[in-house]
Amino acid sequence: MCGIVGYIGKEQAAPFLLDGMSKLEYRGYDSAGIAVMEGAKIRLEKCVGRLEALRAKIAGDMPVGTIGIGHTRWATHGRPCDRNSHPHADSSGKFVVVHNGIIENYLVLKEQLIEKGHVFLSETDTEVVAHLMADLWDGDFESTVKKVLKEIKGSYSLVFMTEYEPKKIICTKKDNPLVIGLGEGENFIASDIPAIISRTRRTFIMSDGEIATVSADGVWVQDINGTPISKKVFVVNWNAEAAEKGGFEHFMLKEIYEQPKAIRDTMTGRVDKETETIAFPELNWTPEMMASINKIFIVACGTAYHAGIVGKYYLEQLARVPVEVDIASEFRYRSPLIDGNTLCIVISQSGETSDTLAALREAKKLGARTLGVTNVVGSAVARESDQVVYTYAGPEIAVASTKAYTTQILAMLMLAIYVGRLRGTLGEARAKELVHGLGLVPEQVHELLENVDQIKVFARQYASCEDAFFLGRSLDYAVALEGALKLKEISYIHAEAYAAGELKHGTLALIVEGVPVIVLATQSDVYDKTVSNLQEVKAREAVVIAIGFVGDEVLKQHADSVIYIPKTDKYIAPLMAVLPLQLLAYYAALTRGCDVDKPRNLAKSVTVE
Ligand code: M6R
Repeated sequence: MCGIVGYIGKEQAAPFLLDGMSKLEYRGYDSAGIAVMEGAKIRLEKCVGRLEALRAKIAGDMPVGTIGIGHTRWATHGRPCDRNSHPHADSSGKFVVVHNGIIENYLVLKEQLIEKGHVFLSETDTEVVAHLMADLWDGDFESTVKKVLKEIKGSYSLVFMTEYEPKKIICTKKDNPLVIGLGEGENFIASDIPAIISRTRRTFIMSDGEIATVSADGVWVQDINGTPISKKVFVVNWNAEAAEKGGFEHFMLKEIYEQPKAIRDTMTGRVDKETETIAFPELNWTPEMMASINKIFIVACGTAYHAGIVGKYYLEQLARVPVEVDIASEFRYRSPLIDGNTLCIVISQSGETSDTLAALREAKKLGARTLGVTNVVGSAVARESDQVVYTYAGPEIAVASTKAYTTQILAMLMLAIYVGRLRGTLGEARAKELVHGLGLVPEQVHELLENVDQIKVFARQYASCEDAFFLGRSLDYAVALEGALKLKEISYIHAEAYAAGELKHGTLALIVEGVPVIVLATQSDVYDKTVSNLQEVKAREAVVIAIGFVGDEVLKQHADSVIYIPKTDKYIAPLMAVLPLQLLAYYAALTRGCDVDKPRNLAKSVTVE
């Protein structure tokens, strides 16, 4: 996730920008840059790598000026390199912009601008915004920004500077954070509070659609129609560490709450809500190509492996291709049966997991076509796979994966719908139904995350238990696996997930009075059987917490307690059913006093075998 900083005032801008950007390093980035108004000219300095590389580049020749903007980039469109770093300028260099988010329609806009003679230097979606400023320039900064906003679609925080009106910075946002800091004769802009709290604690948060004109003496906020907006200023009393976590106690909790945005971003450019279709412009697969695939392997580790199991259900049921899911460390040594008609999908948040990479290389060696599903642009998985589908979860800092998992299963569902349509195994009406359901997910997830008191109570109640069991059938079983992993890795409670029907073949012996059993019951075709399994554990006096759809009265009759999730399609249910499990694990770990973000013995990225 990129970081934005802006300054306008009486002090030198560059040192503040660099300092502010360093406070945003925790968000993850691969390149950095600044633009400073030097006299009447904008000077742009940017490069790939850490902030130190930028500092070294300008050491001894720091841009001089009291107005500037800066950016740390987490690549989404175009690999990390100098040219793709922000800020971006138009061809004249008179307009510069920094951007967080995704401009969904950038390809169409880029083509139109190229036809008009604009020359693009980067592969980014952002650069179109700078060229659009130049193209639509009408002699008035605010008015031109509004024209640009009418052209672009997607999610963004945008900050603009122009040589034509050098005493102003303009910023705006949609679905991405942006805050303004208020000083005396100086004002600040940032994507996140840590960047500015060393200079001011008086801030306000920009809302979607607002446009702020920031000068040294004041900040003027309006909407796109020119209606003035008065903002409520608040004084930040967090310390720097709390500010990095956006006020959340842990990165894990922050990342759980970032899921509506991560899901929305991962759907951007793929889910078309109007036509209710799925597109993967980055794949451009054809019916012929898909008809030639007779087997799919999904290979990954840990949470990503669990996302792969969900993906197997999706691809087999919607696209009718046989799928094998493998743990990467097993796959690489088991001589898998692969040929040129095999597609090997590797899933990895970091794109650097050693076993996953080795499995990818093995699949390529054996002649498979390969597809990487990863969250990190330019990672080894992205570089070495034949094709890549990115999840846009933003950097995940907590060791326990949360938003990466939901975006991985979302990517797999979108992929299965896409492949199902290409192979003719999924009818148009059913595909539309699913896409419609997907469009509702960000809001439903948001809603679910707003009502978590009951989950906190359960977590505290059962935090002292030694063992816990997670049961489900079909997709619920796949999600149960992830629920158990979450609980054990951060709370150190022994947790096992079972396919509910398998329980009586051994594990039922472990079910005794008071053992917590979490039963997922969202899959209509196996619902009755799941409820029977629930009764079996209840009969052994287990304490049963069921997870089901709002309005499910049957679960209420049989379970000790029910956590309800919003009603949705059975294929979309995993995106929601996993949320209570993430929160149960989080609050249980918190109650037990565990180091939630850095659980013992574990690393975020496992780059050794
Ligand atoms: O970066 P990757 O997705 O390849 O990582 C794979 C696993 O190490 C990872 O999913 C791990 O299981 C999670 N951090 C657990 O929450």
